[in-house]
Amino acid sequence: MEHSGEQKIQWAYQYMPVLQAIRRRFEEEKPLSGERIGMALHVEAKTACLVRTLKAGGADVYITGCNPLSTQDDVADALRKGGIACYAKRGCSTEEYYEAIDRVLDAKPTLTIDDGMDLIGRVHTERRDCLSQIIGACEETTTGIHRLRAMEAEGKLEFPVIAVNDTPMKHYFDNVHGTGESALSSIMLTTNCLVAGKHIVVAGYGYCGRGVASKARSLGARVIVTEVDPRRALQAHFDGFDVMKMKDAAKTGDLFITTTGNCSIITKEHFPLIKDGALLANAGHFNNEIDAAWLSANASATEHRDGIDTYVVNGKKLHLLAEGRLVNLATPKGMGHPIEVMDLSFAVQALSVEYAAKHGKELTAGVHDVPAEIDEYIARLKLASVGAGVDELTAEQKEYMSSWNHGT
Ligand SMILES: NC(=O)c1ccc[n+]([C@@H]2O[C@H](COP(=O)([O-])OP(=O)(O)OC[C@H]3O[C@@H](n4cnc5c(N)ncnc54)[C@H](O)[C@@H]3O)[C@@H](O)[C@H]2O)c1
Repeated sequence: MEHSGEQKIQWAYQYMPVLQAIRRRFEEEKPLSGERIGMALHVEAKTACLVRTLKAGGADVYITGCNPLSTQDDVADALRKGGIACYAKRGCSTEEYYEAIDRVLDAKPTLTIDDGMDLIGRVHTERRDCLSQIIGACEETTTGIHRLRAMEAEGKLEFPVIAVNDTPMKHYFDNVHGTGESALSSIMLTTNCLVAGKHIVVAGYGYCGRGVASKARSLGARVIVTEVDPRRALQAHFDGFDVMKMKDAAKTGDLFITTTGNCSIITKEHFPLIKDGALLANAGHFNNEIDAAWLSANASATEHRDGIDTYVVNGKKLHLLAEGRLVNLATPKGMGHPIEVMDLSFAVQALSVEYAAKHGKELTAGVHDVPAEIDEYIARLKLASVGAGVDELTAEQKEYMSSWNHGT
């Protein structure tokens, strides 16, 4: 019987036609030959397919997790069996988490890939010995880009980083459809509770929030959105959702899903208002959107079961999923985003790493966009794989769209 991690990787790979095409080219051209790639990503099956694609391109790859609860140990084992240096372990302590990042950095990577910026953060603080040989990097998620832009604004970012998250082929699909479907499916598998008819409060109406809100509505939920940006709040209103402040939504919600990338969204101010039996989940990058520490310190009783911590507050039971960490990856049943979505995100990663290897030395230190040609190329590969046709502009249309001297 084949190893379960290997089976998961093979299962994912069959639904990743775009990454497969890139891997075939990488096998022939070896564009990453001589590079050492250091990665801190969620170590699960789709990520393993990216790792193998980079290896096929000629790179030596070193990987650890980017969240203490998201690693699938059988997938990490399968990677190690295939000769990849993988240091990720599910349920690691904070100390072990950073030790594993240090082991990746001990390989002195020339290129890095992050999801949340913990590895780049380490390179710019405790591990400055690694700075000189890094020619470029890629960042996968919104929170990582926020942190990198803050570093750049302070003049502290010392090499070029490609903002994979910000390119349309990533966030239009991964953040919206990926987070939307996987957050809800993970909550449903963990709790066995019905979504239809529930009042679901979605905090944040960015890419992830829009995905979660629309998928929840399509399952029959009554969705309430909370926002701080008035334009996004208005967009949620026009999209047909109830929009209100969290202190009001707190009284109504049966299930809360935070997707803000910000801190302190559901706190001691809200917990006493929330109904008995409510479910609390976070889909933002860090576990600081729901104040789990307050719940743990102030509950009159607690109960733990697989993926759910129950806290009794004012005589009411509040159920926190996955310790308030990324609910789509950190519950025992969480499998992360659907495969087809990660085919696109990791195709962007693979081609952005190739771009950084080729052009990193010419780029300034700072955050850079994914080149539009990479984005379009991936869209075309994906369209071809699903058999969808796409029209081409005619010469007349190109001329028309680039001229101003026409009218009635
Ligand atoms: N679960 C996953 O697998 C996954 C996937 C992609 C991104 N992410 C993470 O999800 C988070 C959101 O990503 P995004 O791409 O949707 O970002 P985004 O910037 O598009 O959206 C975040 C939204 O939250 C709003 N917000 C900020 N503070 C708020 C507050 N106090 N109350 C209500 N709303 C508030 C912002 O105004 C914004 O509209 C990030 O941490 C990102 O890294 C998670």
